[in-house]
Amino acid sequence: MHYMTTAEIREKYLRFFEEKGCKRMASSSLVPDDPSLLLTSAGMVQFKPYFLQQKHLDAPFIGATTAQKCVRTNDIDLIGTDGRHLSFFEMMGNFSFGAYFKKEMCAWALEFSTKVLELPIERLYFTVFEDDDETIEIWKDLGVAEDHISRMGEEDNFWRAGPTGPCGPCSELYYDQGVEVGCGDPDCAPGCDCDRFLEYWNCVFTQYDAQEDGSLVPLPKKNIDTGMGLERIAAIMQGVQSNFDTDVLRGLVAVGEKLSGRVYGSDDAVDKSLRIMADHTRSVAFMVADGILPSNEGRGYVLRRLIRRAVMKGHLLGIEGSFLGHYIEEIVKVMGDQYHELQENRELIDRVVDSEEARFGATLHQGRAYLSQALDEMDGTVLSGETAFTLHDTYGFPFEVTADICAEEQVTVDKAAFDRCMDQQRDRARRATAHDADAAWSTYDGSMSAILEAVGATEFIGYDHDDADVCVRALLHDGERVDVLNAGEAGGVICDKTPFYAEMGGEIGDIGTMMGSDAQLTVTDTKAPEKGLVVHHVTVTSGAIHVGDGVRAIVDAPRRARIRRNHSATHILHWALRQVLGDHVRQAGSYVAPDRLRFDFTHFESVTRDQICAVEGLANRKIMENHTVTTYETGLDEARASGVTALFGEKYGDRVRVVDMDGFSRELCGGMHVAQTSEIGLIKITSESSVGANVRRIEAVTSFDALAYVNRIETELRNTADVLRVPLFDVDERTAASLDQLKDLQTKMKRNKRVAVAGDLARVLDKVTFTAHDGYPIVIMRSDGVDAGGLRNLWDIIRPRLTSAGACVLAGDNNGTPLIMAAGSDEAVAAGFHAGSIIKSISSCIKGGGGGKPTMAQAGGKSVEGIDAALEQAKKMLL
Ligand code: SER
Repeated sequence: MHYMTTAEIREKYLRFFEEKGCKRMASSSLVPDDPSLLLTSAGMVQFKPYFLQQKHLDAPFIGATTAQKCVRTNDIDLIGTDGRHLSFFEMMGNFSFGAYFKKEMCAWALEFSTKVLELPIERLYFTVFEDDDETIEIWKDLGVAEDHISRMGEEDNFWRAGPTGPCGPCSELYYDQGVEVGCGDPDCAPGCDCDRFLEYWNCVFTQYDAQEDGSLVPLPKKNIDTGMGLERIAAIMQGVQSNFDTDVLRGLVAVGEKLSGRVYGSDDAVDKSLRIMADHTRSVAFMVADGILPSNEGRGYVLRRLIRRAVMKGHLLGIEGSFLGHYIEEIVKVMGDQYHELQENRELIDRVVDSEEARFGATLHQGRAYLSQALDEMDGTVLSGETAFTLHDTYGFPFEVTADICAEEQVTVDKAAFDRCMDQQRDRARRATAHDADAAWSTYDGSMSAILEAVGATEFIGYDHDDADVCVRALLHDGERVDVLNAGEAGGVICDKTPFYAEMGGEIGDIGTMMGSDAQLTVTDTKAPEKGLVVHHVTVTSGAIHVGDGVRAIVDAPRRARIRRNHSATHILHWALRQVLGDHVRQAGSYVAPDRLRFDFTHFESVTRDQICAVEGLANRKIMENHTVTTYETGLDEARASGVTALFGEKYGDRVRVVDMDGFSRELCGGMHVAQTSEIGLIKITSESSVGANVRRIEAVTSFDALAYVNRIETELRNTADVLRVPLFDVDERTAASLDQLKDLQTKMKRNKRVAVAGDLARVLDKVTFTAHDGYPIVIMRSDGVDAGGLRNLWDIIRPRLTSAGACVLAGDNNGTPLIMAAGSDEAVAAGFHAGSIIKSISSCIKGGGGGKPTMAQAGGKSVEGIDAALEQAKKMLL
């Protein structure tokens, strides 16, 4: 046995099984084509339809072999605590769907272990399912010593991907790393928690299909599903005890060492953090490369948790600022050759981690402070679930992050209470969205797959036809299958074939009519509730339609032409956005209707007006260049290899349809498209906005709708020009000038008002100017409708108009609030005037209070009726 790199082992494994007759196949996406699973967690996931004999390998292959990327987060708490657990790992697999079984598999597993890897047989141990005598005999016949074989129960040696689906008993291979790395217990054996016996290969004899009720139904054939943990076998072949010391992962640990200045192997807590960062960032890079974006639910939340946990670990090690990008660089460097998606999506991965780090960074310090305070103030050793929920909800701390920090203080978190808070929040959200519009489509309560089985798939002939003679295969009405639909009834019609496009890939369904010999139907929508089964949603306008009737199905062709233009426009916009904003732009969703289109894409900052103009310009150029749009079918692998754009999260079969616009845009797509780009006429982007942390949306219109949009804007502009009486293109200049003018006029008006007040004042001043008993002139006057500042301004106006330095007492009703003010010059004050004390004594008349300095005092009150009394009292005091 000699040192082998991870890449060498991977290649040797695949080649070994290729030589045995297996087809080498690519890893499937981490986003499984299986609604029962959140993430791809085993090599067998992509082969479920093969085990069920729904799909078959081409001859002459007897099986398949893969290196499958997997993510498992069910034991996330264990990751980092030892050298074995990983959230991301590669599983080397080989699979048989009835061709070879136990005997061959055991022989090959032993041959690969002892001949290719040259592991000494004395170091190998084997477990089998408790009653599987057959496999015990097979191992013995292959030369394995009896005391190296043991039986295990259901928990260890019966493998399932989930509660339902293909499963079966298994036999596992262990490598003895030596007594010195073990627990020392004389009973230590495979299955012990210590590091001595390392399980590296699981051979599952997939014989059953587990049903919802827990029963095991035998599969049509006996299958093989085996998985060898690549990181674990690499550790064995590289003579190290931990996955984190292998060639691939050690480099990632080193990234953390460099960033934090800490040395791996010197402190348990630091080691754990370095391992977590190395592990989680690999999951992150691969998940984003498969199109998963951080979010608050589903797999997006798994991703967010992994990013945030890695960031928090780095932060606790003292790493400042954003740092995940350094890990991404290393991951792409060491794994990009095997997994090209890492290279192709490098920019996207960088952008996602940067933006997610920035988002979390913004609240991380506040959240830490909040948690520190909660820890300081708590009694006991259990943090409340409510505190953990606030940290989650307000500061974005995933539960594990809070639990990690608490663990360092020997504090646990009340998970049950946290889960209750989460459930309550989910209930609130569910209630808010309960009236989902899609619920309206419910013409059949039973299983659509049963109908599909009974009547067969609907052949779609709409790429070449807008109308066709078809035959009715099934009718749905009021939640049931019926034989006839009568005039006035609404329901579903399923035919042998159809020119109607069923809503898919963002493109809405066709509408139109169906004419039978004795019936006329309006088709109001078309959907595919089950892959391959097209349901026309109809209303019977006259006559009756029966199962078995022949009808002419006629699509609303002008509407479809508009849909075609909009669908092709989304492809062109996708291309143009990538040209202008960069390769990280990926389609994240779309909606194609006859009158408009919506295109959602990954991007991490707002899009400027100039960028929008550039996108629009490029897109329209492609229209004017009048490119030919062709469509053709090809194999999925060939399409991917030739660089055709596939959409994230979209499920493709083995045969795919490519929409090719003279090569500048090539996308996998099943939708309706124009034949020449010039048919689109014009693309006009009408809005750009954000629809989430990492996703932007543009809305656009094409052809006649674009013209109508431009015309509407022009009409508005023309109307404005007419009102302003200027030529069309002077509107903005004239509007700006008019606004300036208006502002000028307003300023002048204010000034004039002041002048007018001053003029009025001069006229009344004589009547309200008195001589105080101390000899200075004093104005005592009522002035309504003026606020406190206005009263002070009045004093400024009065003051220079008094022949010698004097004082004033003013009072008035300002919209229901009485205000009084007294002010005096220094000379008046010297002569005995005290504004503060005057206000103090007269403010009671207006049920108020106030005071101030000798030269200036003000008060407000509650009773406007007392204003005159206050002025009278002032006169009494002063005159
Ligand atoms: N499906 C089995 C596992 O994941 C073997 O591939 O262990």
